[in-house]
Amino acid sequence: MNKISIIGAGMTGATTAHWLAEREIADLVLVDVVEGMPQGKGLDMLEAMPIVGKDVTIVGANDYAATAGSDIVIVTAGLARKPGMSRDDLLKVNAEIVGKAITESLKYSPEAIFIILTNPLDTMAYLAMKIGKLPRERVIGQAGILDSARMRAFVALETGVSVENINCYVLGGHGDEMVPLTRHSNIAGIPLRNYLPADKLEAIVARTRKGGGEIVNLLKTGSAYYAPAAACAQMAEAILKDKKLIVPCAVHMQGEYGLKDMFFGVPVMLGRKGLEKVIEYELDADEKAEFEKSAASVRETHEALKSLVML
Ligand code: APR
Repeated sequence: MNKISIIGAGMTGATTAHWLAEREIADLVLVDVVEGMPQGKGLDMLEAMPIVGKDVTIVGANDYAATAGSDIVIVTAGLARKPGMSRDDLLKVNAEIVGKAITESLKYSPEAIFIILTNPLDTMAYLAMKIGKLPRERVIGQAGILDSARMRAFVALETGVSVENINCYVLGGHGDEMVPLTRHSNIAGIPLRNYLPADKLEAIVARTRKGGGEIVNLLKTGSAYYAPAAACAQMAEAILKDKKLIVPCAVHMQGEYGLKDMFFGVPVMLGRKGLEKVIEYELDADEKAEFEKSAASVRETHEALKSLVML
């Protein structure tokens, strides 16, 4: 059986385990600093397996020995921004947490592929690659699948068409400057721009950009976790099954789209090696300008990280 470890057994981590357990593709390990919590959640989920008929083991732990031999490590450990905390404060705290998650995981699973979810996502993935001295194939940030799924859900609500027929591509950094590519998005092959009036499409794009904030405002405490976790599970499945699935993910740019040495959300092919290929869309002038704006904002956070941590 394959093995997936999830670092951080909070809302996203535990929900990722839940989606993954239902897929019956790997034994699961949940790691968290809180004593007893990952063990309790793991045992509870394990006890659900006879009911759903899935033969996987799920264990919780406070140390990394339990993660030994993982094929994939999903990092969701981190803090959310608290009142009074600047973005740089958060960056520093999460950089320490993610840095430790990577170095500890690598001691026990030197060949693992890492999926990074902790925010600021693009920059945490960059940190993971540098700290772990990993090839770019093995560090993939989750963001684009979630942002695209939000747009797909809103298009489905507006049109009444099955979500399965709706293809949307949201690229760029995981922030307000993300780039929903309406020209490439379609419903069963019909360009979205032909299917929906411009004002409706604009409203959907605006709602997509603020998708994370909409959930935070509703929940009051905490942020989205069902959809982010579902995205992580889809990525892990694509990797383990060597599906060659093309989805938007944050990966290390090495000249593609004119970007270098930074993580950015672009369409990629996922397979058993992790990142197997970066897919380059042809962009028009407007799209290029949006890409550049989003890249500038990601670069700023990367620079802030470099001023805090020696990489
Ligand atoms: N090692 C392991 N786990 C840790 C560590 C650490 N060093 N530090 C914190 N954690 C754990 C916390 O104990 C908590 O259980 O990480 C978990 C985070 O869970 P939640 O607070 O429920 O946060 P969640 O909603 O899951 O989001 C986690 O993912 O989507 C991003 O922006 C989000 O960065 C955030 C992360």
